[in-house]
Amino acid sequence: MCGIIGYTGTGGGVLDVLMTGLSGLEYRGYDSAGVAVANASLSVHKRQGEVSALEDALPDGDLDGLAGIGHTRWSTHGPPSDANAHPHTDCEDQVAVVHNGIIENYQELRGDLEASGHDFASETDTEVIPHLIESALSEGADREEAFREAVHQLEGSYAVAAVFDGNETVYAARNESPLVLGLGEDGHYLASDVPAFIEFTDQVVYLEDGQFARVNPSGIVVTDAQGAVVETAVETIEWDPEDAGKSGYDHYMLKEIHEQPTAIRKCLRERVNELEGSVGVEELSELECDGPVQFVACGTSYHAALYGARLLRERGIRAQCFLASEYDVGMVPVSSDTLVVGVTQSGETADTMSALRAANRSGATTLALTNVVGSSAARECDHVMYIRAGPEIGVAATKTFASQQVALAMLSSVLSEESSMEFVERLRDLPDQIQQVLDGSQARGVAEAYEDSDAYFFIGRGYNAPVALEGALKMKEITYKHAEGFAAGELKHGPLALVTEKTPVFAMLTGSDISKTLGNVKEVEARSAPVVAVTDSPDTVSRYVDHVLEVPSAGSRFTPILANIQLQLVSYWVANRMGRSIDKPRNLAKSVTVE
Ligand code: F6R
Repeated sequence: MCGIIGYTGTGGGVLDVLMTGLSGLEYRGYDSAGVAVANASLSVHKRQGEVSALEDALPDGDLDGLAGIGHTRWSTHGPPSDANAHPHTDCEDQVAVVHNGIIENYQELRGDLEASGHDFASETDTEVIPHLIESALSEGADREEAFREAVHQLEGSYAVAAVFDGNETVYAARNESPLVLGLGEDGHYLASDVPAFIEFTDQVVYLEDGQFARVNPSGIVVTDAQGAVVETAVETIEWDPEDAGKSGYDHYMLKEIHEQPTAIRKCLRERVNELEGSVGVEELSELECDGPVQFVACGTSYHAALYGARLLRERGIRAQCFLASEYDVGMVPVSSDTLVVGVTQSGETADTMSALRAANRSGATTLALTNVVGSSAARECDHVMYIRAGPEIGVAATKTFASQQVALAMLSSVLSEESSMEFVERLRDLPDQIQQVLDGSQARGVAEAYEDSDAYFFIGRGYNAPVALEGALKMKEITYKHAEGFAAGELKHGPLALVTEKTPVFAMLTGSDISKTLGNVKEVEARSAPVVAVTDSPDTVSRYVDHVLEVPSAGSRFTPILANIQLQLVSYWVANRMGRSIDKPRNLAKSVTVE
């Protein structure tokens, strides 16, 4: 996920608008930032790091212009660096381009461009775009034709904007990455999201996939892929500028819960082949693993790792899971054929880094499964697989957990060299099924019914056992209420003593484990505890429980991913009703860099 902004207007102050826009978009990425301002020539400034680093690097004095574009980056191709920061330009500096998304055919395009004499300055997929434009210009196309021709050659997802030297127009196009236009009094805007310009205007037009926009100081023109002008509807945004980064949601956590369909689509992109029923992860093409696998992780990532270890074992791979802080290479056999996988959203967690470093020293092969390109885990491990969830601002992990689960499912297929049409189709269907859960969830009502409880218990077996642990962790983190998760069969071995009519039990009743877990449900009901079933079989279970939170059926491996979405929502709504500091729970930090 990256953020883009564009502006053209009659009132001046182009650079100020761009810098304000980048601050409003920083939640979309903070690996690097950059701007290009068009005058007779283009002025391009970009820096690795946050927007403040770019601010420090800008030249003193006025830098005004006819039009401009800006970008804040969340790295996908090429680590964070000045060179990989956007905007990117062509060889002659006639055009500057910013982009959010992934160009799937960039290697092929780059190869052709290099063969015809174009020099590249970065490792990004984006840089092919200005060179494609340059190539079209040199063949006589005008600016707009050149932009359109370039975009037509792109495969993948993009929101892209370009400015040219000596020109006041911003050209833009979108496919599967967000792009919104803003209509102001003295000028017009385009951006990945409304927070970039809400300070200046609340009048917006949302661009659709396949559409292009020409943004001039005097107005905007939207066209379809063939160039025909499209009628657009202007909408009024009613968010407070302060809340705009949350896209109208009350909290980042809720926004991030709702971003899960998109996050999973990004995680799967270019990695599953629906025609062949196969899985291939480019970053792992060099990974060889014939020996046992050990996962090391903390907190939510540890729960994802438990889920991943089970996936591997089901495919016949020896897999163990360790809390990173308890990982002691002296006590567990590690040899050169061991693969140690660090599951870490931030890639910076000190406990996980220390376990990975110890594994490295012992001669194991290490793999980081992380969200952050260029993080310590990504740099120090022998291999890295990105989960591509985009930045997560809420301290409580939500979309990164789902993305970790999906990435681990793909890893299990890569390591076992096994896949099937059914497996790939199930993965492909997950984003829509998550959307179904989000659209139809009754979690808010359940939260209202149980907000005054003494404690909350979560039970599940098999792939649902880590989800039960995760459900409880989320509940404790953001509500500050007592919550515990158990493998369903364990409840009767002690925790049952805690169960009362004031302790609701959330039971994951999905797939083939239903009948055994229903036995555990009966044990708690006999102690008068209310039971909430999270289930894909409401007809079978509803008569045994007090509430049902339904999820679609996605098979034994994947239905638990859907069940977890319901639990995230229950915790969110309990915390919301209690007025908790949901995005920044007390005593917690997003990245824990001490052991
Ligand atoms: C809980 C949460 C934490 C992290 C843990 C590991 O919502 O976010 O439990 O999962 O601190 O963090 P990473 O994944 O960055 O290593």
